[in-house]
Amino acid sequence: MAFDIEMIKKVYANLPAKVDAARKALGRPLTLAEKILFAHLHSDQQLSNFERGKSYVDFAPDRVAMQDATAQMALLQFMQAGRPKVAVPSSVHCDHLITARVEAKQDLQVATTESKEVFDFLSSVSNKYGIDFWKPGAGIIHQVVLENYAFPGGMMIGTDSHTVNAGGLGMVAIGVGGADACDVMAGLPWELKWPKLIGVKLTGKLNGWTAPKDVILKVAGILTVKGGTGAIVEYFGEGATSMSCTGKGTICNMGAEIGATTSTFAYDESMSRYLKATGREEVAAMADGIKNYLTADAEVYQSPEKYFDQLIEINLSELEPHLNGPFTPDLATPISKMKEVAVANGWPTKIEVGLIGSCTNSSYEDISRAVSLAKQVQDKGLTLKSEFTITPGSEQVRFTIERDGFLDTFNQIGAKVFANACGPCIGMWDRVGADKKEKNTIVHSFNRNFAKRADGNPNTYAFVGSPELVTAMAIAGDLTFNPMTDTLTNDKGEKVKLDAPNGEELPAKGFSVDDPGYQAPAADGSGVQVVVDPASKRLQLLEPFPAWEGTDLKGLKLLIKAKGKCTTDHISMAGPWLKFRGHLDNISNNMLIGAINYFNDKADSIKNELTGEYGPVPATQRAYKAAGIGSIVVGDENYGEGSSREHAAMEPRHLGVRAILVKSFARIHETNLKKQGMLALTFNDKNDYDKIQEDDTVDIDGLTSFAPGQPLTIVLHHKDGSVDKISVNHTYNQQQIEWFKAGGALNIIRKQVAA
Ligand code: F3S
Repeated sequence: MAFDIEMIKKVYANLPAKVDAARKALGRPLTLAEKILFAHLHSDQQLSNFERGKSYVDFAPDRVAMQDATAQMALLQFMQAGRPKVAVPSSVHCDHLITARVEAKQDLQVATTESKEVFDFLSSVSNKYGIDFWKPGAGIIHQVVLENYAFPGGMMIGTDSHTVNAGGLGMVAIGVGGADACDVMAGLPWELKWPKLIGVKLTGKLNGWTAPKDVILKVAGILTVKGGTGAIVEYFGEGATSMSCTGKGTICNMGAEIGATTSTFAYDESMSRYLKATGREEVAAMADGIKNYLTADAEVYQSPEKYFDQLIEINLSELEPHLNGPFTPDLATPISKMKEVAVANGWPTKIEVGLIGSCTNSSYEDISRAVSLAKQVQDKGLTLKSEFTITPGSEQVRFTIERDGFLDTFNQIGAKVFANACGPCIGMWDRVGADKKEKNTIVHSFNRNFAKRADGNPNTYAFVGSPELVTAMAIAGDLTFNPMTDTLTNDKGEKVKLDAPNGEELPAKGFSVDDPGYQAPAADGSGVQVVVDPASKRLQLLEPFPAWEGTDLKGLKLLIKAKGKCTTDHISMAGPWLKFRGHLDNISNNMLIGAINYFNDKADSIKNELTGEYGPVPATQRAYKAAGIGSIVVGDENYGEGSSREHAAMEPRHLGVRAILVKSFARIHETNLKKQGMLALTFNDKNDYDKIQEDDTVDIDGLTSFAPGQPLTIVLHHKDGSVDKISVNHTYNQQQIEWFKAGGALNIIRKQVAA
């Protein structure tokens, strides 16, 4: 059994009292999202009436999930903590590194050879530290989590933005960077800005061609890609309870596309049915026992305008199927308007490929509704006009739909089944001809449709729809086709109409699976060796960063004075560098190569103060490191905005940069720097940025009495012999100062574990 029943028992035993205490403290009814948040405050965190969108609060999540691309650095860091086991139940899922080329079996074989060292590392480290490991082919992280781990009222973090999918089973599940996952696995609190709350009231009932996917496509059209930022979206109403649990998962999954922190639904019968169908009767029974705590207080859903910051209402009975796109998931077009809109915009109307599945839409219900359309191809004498592919979300779903004959039906109409993995959804699709960059249209049931996302071709117009609509559109091969009103011509020349899809929420014969691809960790992992080839280019074990030497820092070189925007992408570029995510030294060769040098307006061209020559940033910093000289990076406003990528903080630390001094920081990056034992400083007077000269040598004074709220002093020794002294601020609290002194937060944990 993969899920941790003891942990869930503990959560449910404590949840009611914590919720009652919060309700009493606030003196008002609570939404579901608030209940889950209050029930997961870290033990060091005082209960208070936190300010939405403002207060930073420490939480204790119940679980961590990681996918193979992001797990590498998270686990390499976790190993630094010196713990024998993870502090909370955790799982690793091998799904991102499998390219869709020919068909499932063959593609899986190629991937397991190509990425063998990464999979072997993840397998051995999971085995050693008590982490559930899901092998390549076991399925996509979010589908596997929904089937095995998600539980109503729980809190989970995952190193993937679609972790939010688990809201379909009543969780608060949030996508984070690897550093956050490492912290929680190491037993540290996890910090989140107390979210705003958006309520979505669903009235009526889905019918005919409309699917749960259309709810989120509609919401995306209303809120746009930024509308959910910093908020939890809570769905409720009769329309919510009438929907399947996996349908709710689809809606929550695409909450990532509106920027929402996460989305969730109250516990109901559909969740109970799903838990039972996936072997978790005990969890369903426990949830039934506290069900009033796994939904909002009654007053909230009766007068939602009082309790949510924003309220949206959608009548499911009137909702139309949508196709969203191209190039953005919030460009929502109801199917009845698509013909007009596509023609007006000059979108290519011939559909080349229809793709269903992915973590967003590969439930038994989704596939059964899609297959009800595939059956009509043969029954009505039609021919599939587009290519058609299926990526099942898990081996359990794949095995069950094969057993029930669905895959046969798809195969008979000429479909291709890819491996149970991300594949085309993450651009791991070796699509024949994509390199020709021809303008073309595809329709899929995934979640993202930015340019190049699926096949690397910037001219592929990708539209997102429900699996059933995608299937109908692939049968017609035409973007202007409206299956609700239009006819198709069959092999006898007759005009035929597709019947509306129908399917089963859950398999009548239950789920089956032969080998789910699950590897349980060793009961005692102390003897397990973690497999990393020292000659590997993709993986490198980390060495602990050195502790602070106990003195002020003197004689630092200015590495770069960055001008204007400097995001985590400028600091640690993605693209071709992604393959080095598990190898700190190799990926450090991209450090700050996107930042613009203030003194020459060029990227990756800075003066080496030892030679007077201009050269790339990483090579120059390596020269300083080799000479035993520290350096400082100076930046502008909102330095480090963008992603939570921990590499942007680890690379400068690894190469010997001692401090980052900027006008202002993006908060997550500032915290990441602190965790790595780096000095993150801001100008007291932002005009002092102008005092920094290219040939400066820099001292940082005041470290021997480093204290919260006490500014430090920076002394700039200019080349002409003049000196400027400037005051710089910091936001370190006492604990973070200890991180700095120890050389990083993980060094402290390691010491605590050893003690
Ligand atoms: Fe994978 Fe796409 Fe989901 S990349 S995790 S299938 S969003």
